[in-house]
Amino acid sequence: MSDLQVVILTHTLPETWIASLQGKCQLATGPLDATFLAPELEARLPEAEGLFCLLTIPVREALLEKAPRLRVISNMAVGYDNIDVATCTQRGIPVGNTPGVLTEGTADLTMALLLSVARNLPAASQDAREGRWKTWSPAGWLGADLNGATLGIIGMGKIGQAVAQRARGFGMRIVYTDEVERPTLKLERLSLDELLQTSDFVSLHVPLTPQTRHLIDEKTLGMMKRTARLINAARGPIVDSLALYQALKNGQIAGAGLDVTDPEPLPPDHPLYSLPNCLIVPHIGSATMNTRRQMAELACENLLAGLENRRLPNCVNPEVYKA
Ligand code: GLV
Repeated sequence: MSDLQVVILTHTLPETWIASLQGKCQLATGPLDATFLAPELEARLPEAEGLFCLLTIPVREALLEKAPRLRVISNMAVGYDNIDVATCTQRGIPVGNTPGVLTEGTADLTMALLLSVARNLPAASQDAREGRWKTWSPAGWLGADLNGATLGIIGMGKIGQAVAQRARGFGMRIVYTDEVERPTLKLERLSLDELLQTSDFVSLHVPLTPQTRHLIDEKTLGMMKRTARLINAARGPIVDSLALYQALKNGQIAGAGLDVTDPEPLPPDHPLYSLPNCLIVPHIGSATMNTRRQMAELACENLLAGLENRRLPNCVNPEVYKA
């Protein structure tokens, strides 16, 4: 029996990504594609001192109550809406996330969605495969230009700014809405309503919070141009899925590119899949080899710091250290 601290690792990860944990703790590891905390891991919560989890694992009061020895939670994601941070703070548990390393990858994927939706790539590709490409069709498969179009970025944090940098290269005019003015960017900051009314593309880059849940709903979709396209590579519940379905179906907006959905995964019979103007990919914003490895390494650093009673390099609840 090892006397190393027990750490629950909710998913199997490539060994090279978590090499720094070797010999530092005793890992209880879950399956590759776990969608919930495996029962054999749940049984080990009473002895666990660390929890290394992914964004698909809800960490709420019921779980925390079963883990009285927990001293650190490390989420391998920048977003941490899966974790009840307030309760963790009350219990004196620091929570780590992985900002920075996924900024560029997620911005790349955002541009991929934006370009695909602008030029109707999913429908065009399907038409080609299914024999509907009869000739070079002068008025067929017409999309929207990026050059000269207005991109409205909602949430101008690291990822929003990386998207702006890329979009500038495509000749887009960029406006944004954010809680704070960001003067160094030299971009126009608008109210949410103004941004929605004037943008040709709207891209979401806010975290999921009670304030941003269903930020895009029937009312706000109704403010968008009928030619506008919505991109969501942030969190699914920021958009009301049903309202989006109606808006796309009724031509209230022209298209959507979604890396995230509500619910997640989106069941295969969900009506959004029936729409040719809606592109859906399975939450792959950070899915490059390099990015995912760096996220895991950063999550390991946070975990080890917590186990060793050091301040986490990336802590989402630093107030925990004031107590
Ligand atoms: C991915 O969605 C993340 O929050 O890291």
